[in-house]
Amino acid sequence: MGIGRAVALRLARDGWTVAATARGADKLDELVHEAPAGRIIACPGDVTDTSAVHAIVQRLEAEHGGIALAILNAGTYAKDSAETLKRDSFAATIELNLVSVAGCVEALMPAWTERRRGHLAIVASVAGYRGLPGALAYGASKAGLINFTEALKFDFDRLGLKAQLINPGFVRTPLTDKNDFPMPFIIEAEDAAERIVRGLQGSAFEIAFPRRFVAILKRLRGLPYSLYFSLVGRGTGQKKARR
Ligand SMILES: NC(=O)c1ccc[n+]([C@@H]2O[C@H](COP(=O)([O-])OP(=O)(O)OC[C@H]3O[C@@H](n4cnc5c(N)ncnc54)[C@H](OP(=O)(O)O)[C@@H]3O)[C@@H](O)[C@H]2O)c1
Repeated sequence: MGIGRAVALRLARDGWTVAATARGADKLDELVHEAPAGRIIACPGDVTDTSAVHAIVQRLEAEHGGIALAILNAGTYAKDSAETLKRDSFAATIELNLVSVAGCVEALMPAWTERRRGHLAIVASVAGYRGLPGALAYGASKAGLINFTEALKFDFDRLGLKAQLINPGFVRTPLTDKNDFPMPFIIEAEDAAERIVRGLQGSAFEIAFPRRFVAILKRLRGLPYSLYFSLVGRGTGQKKARR
């Protein structure tokens, strides 16, 4: 189960009315039926299609009395490297993981600015803290998202809106099921959803988990380059060419 699906189910069971977006209409229908009756509204669509996103937001605003909380979670990961790097797949990852988020925020802002009420949560990743092997496009998109959400927070504070950044470590989902490398401290999607929902109720800007993995990565984030490259290179089994 993906993180978005787990969060949608958890919120629906808590009594929220949840609008869920994905491209796959069949999976959305399954989600609607898995949740308590009437709690999940399926809004099939592609978040990289700005006009589709605007139409979904306008429909929800008109028919369901306004969007209180938006969790921007859609994202993808494909392992890449200097040798396999392709401009088009790099751009596609940036388009979905980063640019589509700007499109969603653009669509949400008119009603939120007018109401002076709205809560935005953006799902980035601990992989955005610093460069990691195998994550050229993914890391760049998530680092961009972290910076974007930090910058947005200043405007949201001025406008009386709430912005939060969600940085998960490894979570077992269809996305990570494809990974062929060790994923330390991996947790289940339901566990991630629990931590996200708890974080959304709090006032901390960053919702990052699991705590021990995050603490290690935050230590690494503060290290000088020479130490960082040597520790992470060794820890992830990177080989160095002999000169
Ligand atoms: N799993 C982890 O370890 C982990 C760790 C840190 C951060 N994250 C982040 O958490 C988020 C969710 O990841 P996940 O592991 O739950 O992935 P997932 O299981 O692959 O789920 C991704 C979801 O995004 C939807 N989606 C993908 N492209 C879309 C598009 N263009 N328009 C609309 N919806 C789209 C997918 O549905 P359709 O394919 O039907 O569109 C799917 O429901 C991502 O942003 C990911 O980077 C995950």
